[in-house]
Amino acid sequence: MDRINPFNPDSPVDPNNFEGREDILEKNIKILMETKHNKPKHFFITGNRGMGKSSLASYFKDYAEKKLKYIGVHIYNDGVHDIESLIRQIIEELLNNIQKESFFNKIFNSFKNHVESVNLFGTSLKFKPSENLLDHIKDNFAGFLVNMVNEFDNKNGLIIIIDDINGLSDNPEFVNWYKSFADTLFTNYRGKSPICMILAGYPEKLEIMHENNPSFTRIFSHIKLKGLSDKEITDFFNKSFNKINMGIDPDAIDILVKYSSGLPNMMQEIGNGTFYMTNDDDLITYYIAFKGVLYAGDEIGKKYLQPLFDSSIRSMEYLGIFEKIAKDAISNLDEDYFFRKKDFSKNLTENEKKVFTNFLNRARKLKILDYHGPKKSGYYKFTNNLYPVYIDIQSLDETQNKNRL
Ligand SMILES: Nc1ncnc2c1ncn2[C@@H]1O[C@H](COP(=O)(O)OP(=O)(O)OP(=O)(O)O)[C@@H](O)[C@H]1O
Ligand SMILES: [Mg+2]
Repeated sequence: MDRINPFNPDSPVDPNNFEGREDILEKNIKILMETKHNKPKHFFITGNRGMGKSSLASYFKDYAEKKLKYIGVHIYNDGVHDIESLIRQIIEELLNNIQKESFFNKIFNSFKNHVESVNLFGTSLKFKPSENLLDHIKDNFAGFLVNMVNEFDNKNGLIIIIDDINGLSDNPEFVNWYKSFADTLFTNYRGKSPICMILAGYPEKLEIMHENNPSFTRIFSHIKLKGLSDKEITDFFNKSFNKINMGIDPDAIDILVKYSSGLPNMMQEIGNGTFYMTNDDDLITYYIAFKGVLYAGDEIGKKYLQPLFDSSIRSMEYLGIFEKIAKDAISNLDEDYFFRKKDFSKNLTENEKKVFTNFLNRARKLKILDYHGPKKSGYYKFTNNLYPVYIDIQSLDETQNKNRL
């Protein structure tokens, strides 16, 4: 049967398939709506890897574009370390997004000496500003945006997402610049700024920015993303499979939800794996779901871990330690899980205890674990919450499940 796969483990979710987070949406859409009355708003979305930051930002953008008739810009800032490149990226994306708008020429004309067009299956514009122009925009970014929005005749405002704010977070100049941009927008352009800014990044990046300028964090409405609830994940699987006219057995849903462990990216991987295990079936049985979970485990192993794992960490003792940490982590994944070396060693066998220090050093070198807080405190955390889930799936004992299959 020719069914379309409703799962997408490799990209932010399509806003139409966005699941759950109703409290967050309800509260923050109200804040977003205030920009309609020319009051600028700034959001900061934090959450661990794969928790759904880009998906949520993209949901807000879609909402603003469709319901408020805004122009939306979503850029990924990973690897960009200076403000000039950030501004260039924003303007380039904006020019590309408004190409079909009636007011395009008015805006384009002011940049035309700085734009190259590349014709490759449609036109894409490259913004190559002079240093002078860029410096000028950087010094007057608030005024620049407000003036631009004034040209949007049939659009009501602007929403800009600066995603993966990693590269810039270490740069104290950025936080100071952003703070002064936000203040200017608010004071000099009061009543004239239908502008919403959304920044998204890892929690530790926000901490660094806060340390660089404590006033910076005060600008924002903060959204801290945690794991999805079992109910939200159940709804997601039901809706996704219903869309392709498939039902799910109750014990199948249980295993899908259990191994998703609250993680949106794991939920998509498991849905995807389960979809691949179906043929002409109309029903997801326990057996299909079980194979789907193993498939997903294999995928994350290949995608995330294989390059990191080598034979040394797979020794019996290492694996035993890993399984124990993973089990401990699984029940705490939506909070930030960490453990203390001294306390954790009590759970280990004598042989495991002997290699525990080496294990931790090795896992840290491979970037599977990292220090939680200062080095000397002896606290550790997983760098990616998919790792403990992977280990958990690996230890799924097939023989134990044989009776059910
Ligand atoms: N609310 C949701 N409903 C359904 N799927 C979701 C939801 N949130 C996230 N996902 C899925 O989870 C995965 C990770 O989402 P996303 O890329 O938005 O996370 P992220 O926090 O931006 O990740 P990263 O830290 O890697 O940037 C994607 O496959 C996405 O489709
Ligand atoms: Mg992201």
